[in-house]
Amino acid sequence: MDANQRIARIAAHLHPSNVQMEGGSVLERANCRAKGGAPGFKVAILGAAGGIGQPLAMLMKMNPLVSVLHLYDVVNAPGVTADISHMDTGAVVRGFLGQPQLDAALTGMDLVIIPAGVPRKPGMTRDDLFKINAGIVKTLCEGIARCCPNAIVNLISNPVNSTVPIAAEVFKKAGTYDPKRLLGVTMLDVVRANTFVAEVLGLDPREVSVPVVGGHAGVTILPLLSQVKPPCSFTKEETEYLTKRIQDGGTEVVQAKAGAGSATLSMAYAAVKFADRCLKGLRGDADIVECAFIESRVTELPFFATQVRLGRTGVEEIYQLGPLNEYERVGLEEAKKELAGSIEKGVSFIRK
Ligand SMILES: NC(=O)c1ccc[n+]([C@@H]2O[C@H](COP(=O)([O-])OP(=O)(O)OC[C@H]3O[C@@H](n4cnc5c(N)ncnc54)[C@H](O)[C@@H]3O)[C@@H](O)[C@H]2O)c1
Repeated sequence: MDANQRIARIAAHLHPSNVQMEGGSVLERANCRAKGGAPGFKVAILGAAGGIGQPLAMLMKMNPLVSVLHLYDVVNAPGVTADISHMDTGAVVRGFLGQPQLDAALTGMDLVIIPAGVPRKPGMTRDDLFKINAGIVKTLCEGIARCCPNAIVNLISNPVNSTVPIAAEVFKKAGTYDPKRLLGVTMLDVVRANTFVAEVLGLDPREVSVPVVGGHAGVTILPLLSQVKPPCSFTKEETEYLTKRIQDGGTEVVQAKAGAGSATLSMAYAAVKFADRCLKGLRGDADIVECAFIESRVTELPFFATQVRLGRTGVEEIYQLGPLNEYERVGLEEAKKELAGSIEKGVSFIRK
């Protein structure tokens, strides 16, 4: 490194506002690269300054599969970026603030995680969020279609049952739609199901695996308790208690936070667990199976959450529901009825 470069680095360190943000920087991008940044994947988080976005950004900075982490938000992206960038892990972090920097945030990304939008307040349903979040997701997906049409998209913004169809329609319009690469994140339902079932069984949650299918709101969340691993059985009372608690897990947190938002920390954990699995699939690891809300032919609905196998191209295999018991069959019919309306709402938001 020559003397000028070293002085530029020191100057940048003393005036950090000039460094991490794209555009008008005293340092070029290349100079911001930390030495030893491991080869890995490029990941963008859209909505990175939010309640989910911040812990999500922190945890992704700790993921050894990530070499570059782009943090985009319409507020406070510089602060979060400066903070996260001090962590001595391999990933290089860059911040992007506001719409004019969206394209720079997205260019070259392998995985885009979207927790942008408003969260639920007490009394609000996920559908109440629709109007605001639908527009945000549309704008962000238009950016993805322009700048990284081959990226895997992990969509967290609610209502997922409608935002995934919105994203699909945006990508179709742009001519970039690949259903294998668009995944609605339902991992939090699985994480909650594993935890609550482990509590009832007296097991370590890490030993428990519960498939959760359907969608990501109220009765559309259908835990398949008959397919829990390790194999076990539940009384009718336990089944009803667990199903309801898993379906209402989000509301449990919304009420406990009493106006201060919805699940953020457990959601960030779930999002990172899911993103890590997507990256391992991209890397070519075998047998990466997780639940996600995707375009599907498992039921008559165009989108449905089931277990899927993740690979180099995204969703490589979609698993059938498997044998359901009577309680689950009734739940499935109820879930499908509600899901159909939410999917239609998303599709017509773009097609109208
Ligand atoms: N999928 C799930 O399981 C799950 C769980 C919990 C919450 N959520 C959803 O995640 C979303 C975020 O929740 P939160 O608690 O982090 O909310 P938050 O309000 O704390 O954060 C949202 C962030 O999005 C940003 N934002 C708003 N408009 C944007 C735009 N156009 N471009 C980029 N960023 C934008 C905001 O500035 C804010 O920083 C909500 O829609 C919430 O309902 C999903």
